[in-house]
Amino acid sequence: MAAMSLSGKRVLLGVSAGIAAYKSALITRLLKQAGCEVRVVMTEGARAFIAPMTLQALSGEPVRTSLLDTAAEAGMGHIELARWADAVVIAPATADVMARLANGFADDLLTTLCLASDAPGLIAPAMNQAMWRSPATQRNLATLADDGWRQVGPAAGDQACGDTGPGRMSEPEEILAALTDCLPPSTPAPDDDAAHLVITAGPTQEALDPVRYLTRHALSNHSSGKMGYALAAAALEQGARVTLISGPVALPTPAGAQRIDVTSAADMHQAALQLAPDADIFIGCAAVSDYRAAEPAAHKLKKTADDDTLTLTLVKNPDIIADVAALPSAQRPPLVVGFAAETRDVEQYADDKLARKALDMIVANDVSAAGLGFGSDDNAAWLLWRTPAGSASEHQPPQPKTQLARAVIARALVQRSALLP
Ligand code: C5P
Repeated sequence: MAAMSLSGKRVLLGVSAGIAAYKSALITRLLKQAGCEVRVVMTEGARAFIAPMTLQALSGEPVRTSLLDTAAEAGMGHIELARWADAVVIAPATADVMARLANGFADDLLTTLCLASDAPGLIAPAMNQAMWRSPATQRNLATLADDGWRQVGPAAGDQACGDTGPGRMSEPEEILAALTDCLPPSTPAPDDDAAHLVITAGPTQEALDPVRYLTRHALSNHSSGKMGYALAAAALEQGARVTLISGPVALPTPAGAQRIDVTSAADMHQAALQLAPDADIFIGCAAVSDYRAAEPAAHKLKKTADDDTLTLTLVKNPDIIADVAALPSAQRPPLVVGFAAETRDVEQYADDKLARKALDMIVANDVSAAGLGFGSDDNAAWLLWRTPAGSASEHQPPQPKTQLARAVIARALVQRSALLP
C-alpha cells in the first residue's frame, strides 16, 4: 500500500505550467494523508493554473516560486530545501521543464532544487500529444531517464486542447504509487540498545594561508568520503546509531546520521576524542592529512618574481585513530576499526598497522588496482581482526563501496558482540 510506505517521507512537489496543475491539489492532499511532509514549489507559469494559496492550505507549508526570495531564503534556503527532500515529484512536468532539467538549467527555483538534490526524482509529464511525440521531448526524456529520473505516464486520451493521444498526466493515485516505488525502504529507527558508531570520513584540510590548504595527498584530493558515508549508511540500515565526523566532502548526509563537520585534523582529533567514550564502535575512515603548516600565513602567500621556491615548515598531525585506541579502558570504544591503503603486501602491512596502532580490526584496500579505491565507486579489501590466538582475515573481492561497507559493518557488529559479556 502506497500510504503505508510513504509515511514520514519528505516530498518536494514541483508544479509546472500545465492545465493538469489543478490535480496537484489532490496530489498534495493524498501525500499528506499518506503521512508525508510536503513542500510545494511552483514555476512562475504554474501560478496561472492554480493558486499558491490552495497548495499552501493543503500542504500546511508556504509555497515557493522564486529563487531570489530573500524572506524565504532566510527561512529554509534553497540548498537546505534540496537536501531536506527524500523525493522530488514534478507533476505536471511540462515539455519546458523537462527540457530545462535535461540540460541542467538552474534558471528558476524548481530546476535549481532538482540540480542540487540527490533525492530520487519522478516526473509526471503532461502536454499536448504532438509536443509529447516531438523528437526534442523524447530526446529530453531519454536524457532524464539516463540521469536517474523515473517517469509515470503520460496516459493517452482526450486532451484539454481538443486533441486525442498521449500526454494526459497520470492520475494522482498512480503518481503516489510510482513515488512509493522510487523510494528506498525506510531505515529502522535505532532502539535504545542500538550500537553507537562514530565514523570519521573524508579528507582533512590544513590551512597554509587564508585561501590555500594542504591535504593528505598534497595538491590532489583523493578522498571523496564515499567509503565513510557508505559505512554510515550501512550501519544505519542495521539499526545502529551513527555519528559521522566529516571532513569537507560533497556528499549528502545519510538519513538518520548525526553529522559533525570539521576541516582540519586538529578539529577531527578533538571531535573524535570527545565522542569516543560514547561509541561502541569507532571507525577511522578519514584520509587525515599527515602534516599541517607549522605557522599558517595570516595573509595570502604571494608569488614574487625572484623566488622560484617556496619553503614550508610542516609539523606532524596527531594520529587520531591511534589516540582513540590508546584511551584508558573506561573511555576507549570496545572496537576500534582502522583503514589502510596499500599497494603491495596488503595483508602483511595491514597486520603490522593493526598491531602498531593497537586497533581491533582493520580494512585494507589494495589501491594499486585500476578502478578501485580512492574516489571510485568500487573497492576490494582484506578485513583483519584480532582473535585470542592472534588475528583472522577475510578477503572481500571488488564490489561497489556500498556493498563492501555492509560487509565491514556486519563484521564489526559481530566482533563487537563477541566482546560483550
Ligand atoms: O598510518 P595510516 O595513515 O596509513 O593509517 C590509516 C588509518 O589511520 C585510517 O584508519 C585513518 O583514518 C587513520 N588515521 C588517523 N589519523 C591520522 C592518520 C591516519 O586517524 N593522522
